[in-house]
Amino acid sequence: MLRGSRLVRPFQFQGTSSDWLPSSFRKGPAIAAATNTILFLGLFIISAAVLCSYWIQISNFQIGNSANETVLISNKYQEPFKVIEFPLNCSIGSNINQTQTCPTSYPTTFGNLDDLDTSTNPVCPDYFRFIHQDLMPWKATGITRDMVERAKETAHFRLVIVNGKAYVEKYKKSIQTRDVFTIWGILQLLRRYPGRLPDLELMFDCDDKPVIRSSDYRGLNSTQVPPLFRYCGDRWTRDVVFPDWSFWGWAEINIKPWENLLKDLKKGNDRSKWMEREPYAYWKGNPFVAESRQDLLKCNVSDSQDWNARLFIQDWILESQQGFKQSDVASQCTHRYKIYIEGYAWSVSEKYILACDSVTLIVKPQYYDFFTRSLQPVHHYWPIRHDDKCKSIKFAVDWGNNHKQKAQAIGKAASDFIQQELKMDFVYDYMFHLLNEYAKLLRFEPKIPEGATHLCSESMACPVAESEKKFMTESLVKSPSVTSPCTMPPAYKPQALGNWYRRNINLNKQVQKWEDKYWENLSKQD
Ligand SMILES: *[C@@H]1O[C@H](CO)[C@@H](O)[C@H](O)[C@H]1NC(C)=O
Ligand SMILES: *[C@@H]1O[C@H](CO)[C@@H](O)[C@H](O)[C@H]1NC(C)=O
Ligand SMILES: *[C@@H]1O[C@H](CO)[C@@H](O)[C@H](O)[C@H]1NC(C)=O
Ligand SMILES: *[C@@H]1O[C@H](CO)[C@@H](O)[C@H](O)[C@H]1NC(C)=O
Ligand SMILES: *[C@@H]1O[C@H](CO)[C@@H](O)[C@H](O)[C@H]1NC(C)=O
Ligand SMILES: *[C@@H]1O[C@H](CO)[C@@H](O)[C@H](O)[C@H]1NC(C)=O
Repeated sequence: MLRGSRLVRPFQFQGTSSDWLPSSFRKGPAIAAATNTILFLGLFIISAAVLCSYWIQISNFQIGNSANETVLISNKYQEPFKVIEFPLNCSIGSNINQTQTCPTSYPTTFGNLDDLDTSTNPVCPDYFRFIHQDLMPWKATGITRDMVERAKETAHFRLVIVNGKAYVEKYKKSIQTRDVFTIWGILQLLRRYPGRLPDLELMFDCDDKPVIRSSDYRGLNSTQVPPLFRYCGDRWTRDVVFPDWSFWGWAEINIKPWENLLKDLKKGNDRSKWMEREPYAYWKGNPFVAESRQDLLKCNVSDSQDWNARLFIQDWILESQQGFKQSDVASQCTHRYKIYIEGYAWSVSEKYILACDSVTLIVKPQYYDFFTRSLQPVHHYWPIRHDDKCKSIKFAVDWGNNHKQKAQAIGKAASDFIQQELKMDFVYDYMFHLLNEYAKLLRFEPKIPEGATHLCSESMACPVAESEKKFMTESLVKSPSVTSPCTMPPAYKPQALGNWYRRNINLNKQVQKWEDKYWENLSKQD
């Protein structure tokens, strides 16, 4: 009966007066709802209030977050409501053969975008604009089934969404639990925005390096690019970038889900002020995944030289034996400067480093992930030469220690960016918009493949080992979002994008000039 009316969903009645609500919460209804619906709801409310739970039509809402993540809604009756939470329920299904079934109680719809008052919606961060960029190869032609099938060659799994349900066809095992936590993230997206994701089919490759080379799709082949999702790209490839698994946790090395880690990082920054940190550049990682990292180690401090770098090898096996005591990323913000250097490809550590309030020294990267393309040199980070790392680091640290205000501002700009623009809400919104824009391009009807598995949070989380279950429980989306996704910004005009790249190149060149001058000056003094 309520099907087809505007925003309809279950709420638990909290049942107090709304007097304490700020006036903005008490705005009148924005939507002139049909009178009979109101009457009907009015009657319904009286009975439902007794049962402490009912359905209601929302006309206007705001969020007030209590510690409990209770979401308070103001509707036309100006009463606050508590959203029902749906925790994992691992006790449904058969006890005899241990089959975990998916519960049917989770809401499958939540209004639709057009009905929401989107005037209060924030515009998405700038990095969302690269979604248009990533989908450019198919803008004119659309995506055919044949193109998707050709992306299967290296894919670890096919994701299918039909009628708001997720199905996965697995092709091969990924490194560690990358595939598991990536799929988990998509299931949480479906819980966050139930009924608002379109039907789609996509291929996902969980390996590090992008593989869809632009040079293979020139001329006649240019309309044949296979759409392949993965975690990073570079300027020579057309893979579509998607948030990596670590946002929901990296079980193997005990890195917890991003939402809580972000809070830990903030607390850590409040405890340790920039000025009180070690005035050197710090790096800790695995040097054996890339030559350039081994090259970096040559810059470590020794008896004979000091390039202002303090570098350490991360021994993950030892760490895991010692309960990861030394690898807590939130307690690694101890230096004024932190080095980011790519590993085998992009590294998930970049967000942890940028979040530190320290100046991030980025060794010239080759790869980008979904958010890094909107970072600006000198504003968010300090660029380090790839080919002359030690001298470059030495200069960066000296410059920062001589320009403390400016250096602190760079550290702050990066950590603000991470805290505000890379919070989990926006990670979900990025996935939401990317998948929606992608689905708009599909020129075929998505179908559930034979043998594909229907997945829900319960069927994934209930059977797995404790180390994974812990992070899944922590990153579970417990109820649908009451706010719409942020508003998608338009594509960059080609010229604006060109200007953007040129500006960044010029800033890098400027830093290199300062650096050259600095070393010239030093050699003159000798
Ligand atoms: C949620 O609120 C209830 C009652 O106010 C309280 O007992 C409970 O500890 C809270 N839960 C969390 C996770 O804060
Ligand atoms: C879990 O599901 C079972 C079966 O549907 C139900 O009886 C039980 O109350 C549920 N538990 C929770 C905590 O929701
Ligand atoms: C387990 O039980 C469910 C429901 O009773 C049934 O549909 C399923 O086929 C069973 N699975 C196996 C492997 O026996
Ligand atoms: C077009 O694709 C075919 C088959 O994938 C390949 O052999 C050929 O080299 C490609 N041509 C160009 C111009 O890239
Ligand atoms: C770098 O130097 C520090 C200080 O001497 C030392 O503790 C550390 O082990 C060195 N790192 C490497 C990778 O050798
Ligand atoms: C060169 O060194 C001198 C003396 O240390 C200093 O005063 C001057 O600012 C330096 N110039 C540059 C460009 O670093």
